[in-house]
Amino acid sequence: MSTAATLVDDIKKIVGVHAVLTTPADTAPYLTDWRRSYTGTALAVVRPANTNEVAEVVKRCVATNTPIVPQGGNTSMVGGSVPDATGRAIVLSLNRMNHIRSIDTDNDTAIVEAGVILQNLQAAAGQAGRLFPLSLAAEGSCTIGGNLSTNAGGTNVLRYGNTRDLVLGLEVVTPNGEIWHGLSGLRKDNTGYDLKHWFIGAEGTLGIITAAVLKLFPIPQKRAVALVAVESPAHALKLLNRMKYAFADRLVGLELMARVCVDLVLRHIPNTREPFTEHHAWQVLIELNDSRADAPLGDWLEAELGAAFESGEATDAVIAASEAQINALWQLREEISEAQRLEGKNVKHDISIPISRIPAFIEKCDAALMNTFPNISLVCFGHLGDGNLHYNCGLPSQGLANAEAINQIVYDHVDQFGGSISAEHGIGQLKRIELTHHKSPVAIAMMRQLKQALDPYNLMNPGKVV
Ligand code: FAD
Ligand code: MLT
Ligand code: ZN
Repeated sequence: MSTAATLVDDIKKIVGVHAVLTTPADTAPYLTDWRRSYTGTALAVVRPANTNEVAEVVKRCVATNTPIVPQGGNTSMVGGSVPDATGRAIVLSLNRMNHIRSIDTDNDTAIVEAGVILQNLQAAAGQAGRLFPLSLAAEGSCTIGGNLSTNAGGTNVLRYGNTRDLVLGLEVVTPNGEIWHGLSGLRKDNTGYDLKHWFIGAEGTLGIITAAVLKLFPIPQKRAVALVAVESPAHALKLLNRMKYAFADRLVGLELMARVCVDLVLRHIPNTREPFTEHHAWQVLIELNDSRADAPLGDWLEAELGAAFESGEATDAVIAASEAQINALWQLREEISEAQRLEGKNVKHDISIPISRIPAFIEKCDAALMNTFPNISLVCFGHLGDGNLHYNCGLPSQGLANAEAINQIVYDHVDQFGGSISAEHGIGQLKRIELTHHKSPVAIAMMRQLKQALDPYNLMNPGKVV
């Protein structure tokens, strides 16, 4: 059996010498998060090729009391995928487990390994004549294992749900190195506790997801996308309600952006341009789709926007006339995070609020922040249709110095408005302490009991979530 001294050599025997990275140059990309907020150290980065190798590695780590940090594309927004500074952990990267095992078009399912990059699954589903609808700006590098472990949301949640809604079964290596073969393709199965939901959104703290059965959908034959100028979040909410009731499940996504977000993108991202002749305080991006190629979606959208102008909900709009224009409008929304990263440090919030209360939240929280920090820049955008705001705050040249005071104001308002401190990014290390102030003691106790039952030695992604 392995000892701490022989662990890395023993792991090399399981996965092969080339699948164990130990030099600083090789491990560096795995040790710092996307936002450059956290850097850890690790004994090694281990890249197993299959589920049996993952299980064997976990058994060696249990024998030597070695923590394991599972990692997919390392695009976590909350420092969930990087180790701490002790150097005791291994990073277990799933990025070699990148095979789509099968696609069953009659069952509308795909069985995919955890390390498959989201965009590659979207492409493979498309080649099979199906849609895998999860979509987020990090889709070129995030992985299915990471999407499952964070219960990722993204821009198509209104129509297709969060990642949790797209899963039928999982294969998991448990914290003691056993393999749970839960790759069921069933849409109905009430045989006791639904174990897959323990691991979805657990951020690697309860086990390692190695594969999943995911739902596929018909490919939309028609899309219509518009960027709409509105005066305020209250107008945006009215527009959302209009679109929801006019289009029901043809409404795929509805995103809100404050002016400052568009300015950031125009400033930092090459080949982007302002679509309007005037500058508008708020913009709403709307996407509709339909499975019929002859659906006059563009005409319907235009008519509905006409009614929105008449009622004063909207003040200006651009409807994309081609796929290239659709992409250009989406680029203004999807590049906000990258533009903000290039701009400098900001205090990031990924909150959800009951949709009806979003305008009042923004008004009150903006006022409270500006009262304390008159120079604050409020970069507010997000998935309005899901009640999810990325309510990011920046103070010029102060970096994160006032993060605690800013968080206090924002999260007090989140509580007052009945919201959540994490809508879609998870808890990671960024919000672990904060979580204990916002979830009930009963809920925290149940989470800890579950953690203790599955991972009694606290080896799975310690220091994250609970
Ligand atoms: P990682 O960052 O590697 O890991 C995330 C967490 O999951 C960590 O806790 C890690 O330990 C755990 N984990 C990873 N793989 C496994 C596994 N196989 N088994 C067990 N645990 C595992 N998120 C959204 O929800 N919506 C968005 O719209 C969105 N947009 C983004 C845009 C940008 C530009 C960026 C950089 C990020 C965005 N994110 C978004 C956040 C991030 O992309 C998602 O959380 C994504 O799901 C993480 O996937 P990943 O493969 O990079 O996971
Ligand atoms: C987004 O919706 O663009 C993301 O969740 C990323 C972010 O919040 O920065
Ligand atoms: Zn988001």
